[in-house]
Amino acid sequence: VSTTDIDLKPIAAGSAITVVWRGKPVFVRNRTEEEVKAARNVPLSELQDPQPDQTRVKKDQWLVVIGICTHLGCIPLGQKPTDQRGPFGGWFCPCHGSAYDTSGRIRQGPAPSNLAVPNYAFTSDTQIRIG
Ligand code: FES
Repeated sequence: VSTTDIDLKPIAAGSAITVVWRGKPVFVRNRTEEEVKAARNVPLSELQDPQPDQTRVKKDQWLVVIGICTHLGCIPLGQKPTDQRGPFGGWFCPCHGSAYDTSGRIRQGPAPSNLAVPNYAFTSDTQIRIG
């Protein structure tokens, strides 16, 4: 099957789940208002791979990204609020120190680009379909 349906209801604000889609981890994160604000307040000129947060999400609070570091493919930490999320509050890749922000954009370290956003759609207010 090439699509995966995900129920968003169990994902509390500030936390995330990992689902596997086509053999890859996909991170689905319920962002807090502060995390959304942090993502939106960054000037694009500070970004290595400049993408406005608004173009990476379909609803402000929900961020959906492929959980593979764009450097050499490790799985970044940051899915649990207690994980090390790095200096930009998103994810931190322990392999060589790439730090991503709350939009999954690369902010520090050797990774060349943002965490990729897969194809997905909201099929209801509380469900998405990836693929
Ligand atoms: Fe993530 Fe190198 S694989 S920093």
